[in-house]
Amino acid sequence: MSSSQPYIQSSPATPSRRRKSKFTFRQLHQLQQFSPSNPLRVIAHIDLDAFYAQCEMVRLGVAEDQPLAVQQWQGLIAINYPARKFGLNRHVTTIEAKKLCPDLIMQHVATWKEGEERWAYRDDAFKDMATQKVSLDPYRRESRKILAVIKDSLPAAPIQRVEKASIDEVFLDLSAQIHSVMLERFPELNRPPPYDDPTENLPRPPTTALNWDTDALIDLDEGQKEEEDPDWDDIAMLLGSEIVRRVRAMIREKLKYTCSAGVAKNKMLAKLGSGHNKPNQQTVVRNRAVQQFLSGFKFTKIRNLGGKLGDEVVSAFNTDTVKDLLEVPMDQFKRKIGDDTGAWLYGVARGEDASEVNPRTQIKSMLSAKSFRPSINSMDQAVRWLRIFVADIFSRLVEEGVLENKRKPKTINLHHRQGGQMRSKQAPIPQGKVVSEDILFDLAKNLVAQVVVDGRAWPCANLSLSVGGFEDGVTGNRGIGSFLIRGEEARSIMNSARDTPEQENVRDVTPPGKRRRVDDGIGRFFTPREDSKEESEIDGHRANEPDEEMHENQSKNTPSSEDLYRGGSTPPSAQPQAKESPPLRAARHQTNITSYFCPRCSISLPASAQTEHEDWHFAEDLQAEERNSRPSENNTAHSSGPSRKTQQLPLKRSRGRPAGGGGTKAVDKGQRKLAFG
Ligand code: CTP
Ligand code: CA
Ligand code: CA
Repeated sequence: MSSSQPYIQSSPATPSRRRKSKFTFRQLHQLQQFSPSNPLRVIAHIDLDAFYAQCEMVRLGVAEDQPLAVQQWQGLIAINYPARKFGLNRHVTTIEAKKLCPDLIMQHVATWKEGEERWAYRDDAFKDMATQKVSLDPYRRESRKILAVIKDSLPAAPIQRVEKASIDEVFLDLSAQIHSVMLERFPELNRPPPYDDPTENLPRPPTTALNWDTDALIDLDEGQKEEEDPDWDDIAMLLGSEIVRRVRAMIREKLKYTCSAGVAKNKMLAKLGSGHNKPNQQTVVRNRAVQQFLSGFKFTKIRNLGGKLGDEVVSAFNTDTVKDLLEVPMDQFKRKIGDDTGAWLYGVARGEDASEVNPRTQIKSMLSAKSFRPSINSMDQAVRWLRIFVADIFSRLVEEGVLENKRKPKTINLHHRQGGQMRSKQAPIPQGKVVSEDILFDLAKNLVAQVVVDGRAWPCANLSLSVGGFEDGVTGNRGIGSFLIRGEEARSIMNSARDTPEQENVRDVTPPGKRRRVDDGIGRFFTPREDSKEESEIDGHRANEPDEEMHENQSKNTPSSEDLYRGGSTPPSAQPQAKESPPLRAARHQTNITSYFCPRCSISLPASAQTEHEDWHFAEDLQAEERNSRPSENNTAHSSGPSRKTQQLPLKRSRGRPAGGGGTKAVDKGQRKLAFG
């Protein structure tokens, strides 16, 4: 990393000059197509420095040299660079941190709190891990602003190609932009190739010095000399680096954030580069420096090799260094870890990565989760958390454009953990109309009720709700015609559901101990009350660009579920109905005949299951009485009467507050894990 000297072509050690570049006209022109195999390709990775900490510094107007950390309950999740000098990292507790750095500002993350319409910063949040939930909205919002500045500082698509890789990082494929800059700055490249043959080699770059400015330049590979003539790939890297420096300066100027960047021929190397010199620097890995750069790394630091795969490779080859992997021949890789992975890893050790920068910045799923310390013990507590999860997810959906029907999730999932057991329930989100918070809440309640009726729901250590299967919707207003078409569709699905085996996608809603299949196929076409008026009034932070954040990765790893139901049903809400489309009304009419609505579970069941279901509640109540010898509390925990809020006391602690020091003993690791895997 020492040689950040600009290369001066007139160096006395200049070896004999080749007349032509090793790159062809075709390769130059194909830069416009972003081909991953193009040897002139330039990729950048930009990663914000201590991101959450910087968000808080900017928000609070804190001096740049002031140590600051972002707190989550009793732990730290982001530490700014001034604070890192005191030895602080994500593993120290708030108490240790204050000892190490008495001047440290610890800002707690914003939280959602039951009963409140939106998240807020609260000074005493750290005491309330049991009743509050972290909100990343402020950071998502900054993330969106940063993404917008990045996009604005680049030429319009299709020349720009930006992939949002997480809440605080992006990849840029700079190839097309560099192509146009090259043609502009080096007119000789505009001439047609000799004999009009695109496979002809380009002329050499002119004998100008390459000024790498403030970049950290990775040392060249062994056998390569700085004095050697640069070729067009060096020029392309230099231009890429110039672009990235400008982008970073714009982010700094417009939003005050510093970030670090890597510039290299592919995503893997660019990402390693951005982390190489932090904070506020950019690192260029020229093609001639790749091997030297990589051999210093443990391969477990490389994208996709951080987890289980990395561990497997370590044990298969008994090493964790890239250098050692270079000794391993291809066939041995293939033999030990399989053909595809083996070939991929062989390339990785040599700095090869053909993955594309994917400009779709769109979300695949959204997740809201909470680990409970102490565990929660009633349907009612679960439902209160669901209210928060739904508010959290819904506010993000609004930002994603669901109200304008731009994009729309197809499914809603609930994961429930009790002891070592994870259970998942899934239901389709009714299509054909705008998703509302109430629809999601009803669906979510129904899913948790399914877990409850399965039995063994409490104590519950973790609940998470996610929506997924996003689809691009129809933009613009939907005419009445489209609803009618939907209606026809719905009717025909309903009909087929009645007589095909599909309908045997009958949920098992029978209480434990008396398992019997109950036909509830029809239930899945019921849609909860439509209440779209209220939706547009929910808090003011919306209508921005699509967002993607770290939770997303999480929800792709659906926990192995003992029961993943596809055909979840949506209960008709107990509340009065607003206007609804004719097919929905027809469907609802049918529920009245065939179904029974349990107010304690907020679930609709076939009428034939009513007696059994009530029996089961009775048994469960009795059991709970025995367990807790506090029958009155437990009974009220399920009640859905008007005085519900004040009556239902979670067992073992007063309302919402954990016993013994506010549940503050442990850091909420589980939640952090959920959020960032
Ligand atoms: N984050 C977190 N928990 C983790 C990992 C990351 O909460 N286990 C959050 C951090 O708070 C961070 C943001 O995600 O601000 C981005 O993470 P990352 O880029 O890994 O770290 P930074 O804090 O940005 O620090 P760096 O300067 O090293 O990038
Ligand atoms: Ca970062
Ligand atoms: Ca990052």
